[in-house]
Amino acid sequence: MEAVCRSSDEIKKIRRAGKVVAQCHKELQKRVRAGVKTNDIEKFIAGFFAKHGAVAAQKGYKGYPYVSCISVNEVACHGFPSSYELQNGDIVTVDMVADVGGWKADSAYTYMIGEVSLEARKLVRTAKAAMRAGINAIEIGRDLADIGYAIERRAELDGYKVVASFAGHGIGREIHEQPQVLHVRTETTGIKLQEGMVITIEPIVTAGSTELYIAHDGWTARTIDHSLTAQFEHTVAVTKQGPQLLTALHTPRKTSHAAKRA
Ligand code: MF3
Ligand code: CO
Repeated sequence: MEAVCRSSDEIKKIRRAGKVVAQCHKELQKRVRAGVKTNDIEKFIAGFFAKHGAVAAQKGYKGYPYVSCISVNEVACHGFPSSYELQNGDIVTVDMVADVGGWKADSAYTYMIGEVSLEARKLVRTAKAAMRAGINAIEIGRDLADIGYAIERRAELDGYKVVASFAGHGIGREIHEQPQVLHVRTETTGIKLQEGMVITIEPIVTAGSTELYIAHDGWTARTIDHSLTAQFEHTVAVTKQGPQLLTALHTPRKTSHAAKRA
């Protein structure tokens, strides 16, 4: 299936779902602490979505059993919420997809628990910077491969690696739509970024091996050497004004490229 381009009205609807996700992450920032069980985070998100008229789109998606993915330390993604109690020094990625009126938005954030090692802090900082680099590479007419190039380069500059086996994706009606957005360097894809494309940028950055294995639950993906991972994700629209974050708390005023550069 081809990548679809959304009208500005459709993008507004995706942004509505994105706002719920952004506000939920903001609330989590205050709540994700040592002693909190990852189950409690799941419950909070379920309640928050219900209160804000959003359906948790991950639950039941390809059989995924929970509202959120909660991935602690060496879990790269798709961790199950559990009775695990977060501990001082953990880093935990919370990933969620809200659906409002049939339109979906996806965003993940890595939270640091209490006093985190310098190494873990640096990894988290790089994961965020790598996501930003990918977003900044978004411009109408550029090849999709420019995104992965920017992400991997940014991570490598800091001495980290990017997991190649999980990719970003188109999103809108479904969680995963075309195109696939690789987070590492590849040949040019021939797919040009077009106005109205809505994609996620969500690189998983690792302090060690980029190789993952899936647990017996069929989902939980860990690094084979159990090295730490961090991940940030935004849902982004490709517009004439450049990349627009649909999962940010605030909608920026429209600024032209020229104004932004000045
Ligand atoms: N939010 C995840 C992503 O970034 C979706 C994972 S699929 C699920 O693509 F089944 F776990 F929800
Ligand atoms: Co995603």
